[in-house]
Amino acid sequence: MLLSVLLVMMVISWTEAVYTGTVITHTTKNVQGNSFTLVRRYKFGHSSCGETESFISCSGCTQKIDESSGEWCLREYPTWGSRSFIGYYYGLNPGTWINNKNGISTGLAKVFVEGRKRSDINRPNSSPKTGILPVMRVPSNCQRNIRLLTFDPDGDHVQCRNGSGSNECYTCTPPSVLSLSSSCSLSFSPTSSKVEGSYAVQLMMEDFPSQTIALTDNTGSTASISSKISMSRIPVQFVFKVDPAAPSCTAGEYLPRFLPPTPEHGAQFFINVTETIEINITAEATQSVITELLFSGPFNMTKSSSGSGYFTLTWTPSDSQNDDNESHPICFAVQANASSSIYQSELRCVIVRVGNIPFIAIPSPPTTSRLTVLKLKILTTLSLKDNKDKIEKAIKDELIRRGLPADIKVRLLSDGSVKVNN
Ligand SMILES: *[C@@H]1O[C@H](CO)[C@@H](O)[C@H](O)[C@H]1NC(C)=O
Ligand SMILES: *[C@@H]1O[C@H](CO)[C@@H](O)[C@H](O)[C@H]1NC(C)=O
Ligand SMILES: *[C@@H]1O[C@H](CO)[C@@H](O)[C@H](O)[C@H]1NC(C)=O
Ligand SMILES: *[C@@H]1O[C@H](CO)[C@@H](O)[C@H](O)[C@H]1NC(C)=O
Ligand SMILES: *[C@@H]1O[C@H](CO)[C@@H](O)[C@H](O)[C@H]1NC(C)=O
Repeated sequence: MLLSVLLVMMVISWTEAVYTGTVITHTTKNVQGNSFTLVRRYKFGHSSCGETESFISCSGCTQKIDESSGEWCLREYPTWGSRSFIGYYYGLNPGTWINNKNGISTGLAKVFVEGRKRSDINRPNSSPKTGILPVMRVPSNCQRNIRLLTFDPDGDHVQCRNGSGSNECYTCTPPSVLSLSSSCSLSFSPTSSKVEGSYAVQLMMEDFPSQTIALTDNTGSTASISSKISMSRIPVQFVFKVDPAAPSCTAGEYLPRFLPPTPEHGAQFFINVTETIEINITAEATQSVITELLFSGPFNMTKSSSGSGYFTLTWTPSDSQNDDNESHPICFAVQANASSSIYQSELRCVIVRVGNIPFIAIPSPPTTSRLTVLKLKILTTLSLKDNKDKIEKAIKDELIRRGLPADIKVRLLSDGSVKVNN
């Protein structure tokens, strides 16, 4: 009796928080026998840091990632544990959405974890990965495309759709001002000042196998799914804010524009645990003053600034946070102000892959011509001479598992080096 009273009270205090969005991802690690380690990372946005802290009633469970003073605070709640092969929904009631024009009140943040063992990779699925800021803003007279980072640790095909149904949202009305494509791009077209205000965006991101596969649960029961059936389903929720019209929509004037050496959207970095990565970000705006860098990234990433428009994100992955053998999305935007208006740059996202991988030159993400260095170790008893095809296939499968496109070609050359192209 006492327990149920306590639970009710916890929910009530939690629903007082003003909610601004979430991304919940999960990663499969250390598959052993009939169990594996499931690492879940919840990123939650609320209107202030104190509100988010009251969310899970244990101190030190969540950590602040970043905040935009007076507007939002983003926190992460990382959690892991041993699981058996089973699929299930897991979710939380994140509270009431901030006032919004599409009339969404109670929030719902639920993820479907496909924890059954996949026949193609012989382990349970890891969810697709993405990142977003709790509040994305654009002036009402400007065009904006938000290309969400979509990345899948198993090399699966990723799609987005509007949330729908009782496991995904209580009120599901999508914002009238944004159009979402299945490839996870959201576009906003210049419109009248009548639409100014905040909108609650509630998307679902899903991963699909490239061919029909079997999923086996902990009782041994098997089901087959085609490439049209999704595996994990993660919520991607945020506030889209349409601001008053800007005097100009040209990036670099009022809206800040990124300059080199800011990494391109989709760029990848490879490091080991206990090594430190530094990402330098530079932006300019000739008609406004750049005030801050806003980001969403892993637990314990820090930001610093060395003057207006010069920023650095720094992170050291840690074993104690289970960061190893995982790809971590990092997203950022720069904000500027002029005559009490706020201007936000486009959103950029990069991926930091943490793990021990040997040297192979691989092609960079499709949009850049960057050369990426990857280290990969595949242990095999096959001889190089007689099993060239099998070894090439093993390397290819591993590269795809690490996020390269499924149509890459892998060739093992006579000098022992490996050539990869697409
Ligand atoms: C999401 O909903 C909007 C508005 O109803 C619709 O225009 C859009 O096509 C939908 N997007 C997807 C990917 O289903
Ligand atoms: C980032 O900028 C700082 C200061 O300008 C510089 O010392 C550092 O080498 C840069 N780091 C990278 C990784 O480019
Ligand atoms: C996170 O940062 C804090 C303060 O900088 C430090 O005390 C703590 O050890 C860090 N935690 C991890 C897991 O790196
Ligand atoms: C711009 O932002 C800075 C720092 O937040 C603040 O001190 C200043 O008053 C703002 N200026 C305008 C014109 O809003
Ligand atoms: C990661 O650590 C391993 C040793 O555990 C080392 O062989 C490898 O060179 C390191 N990789 C990078 C990118 O530093």
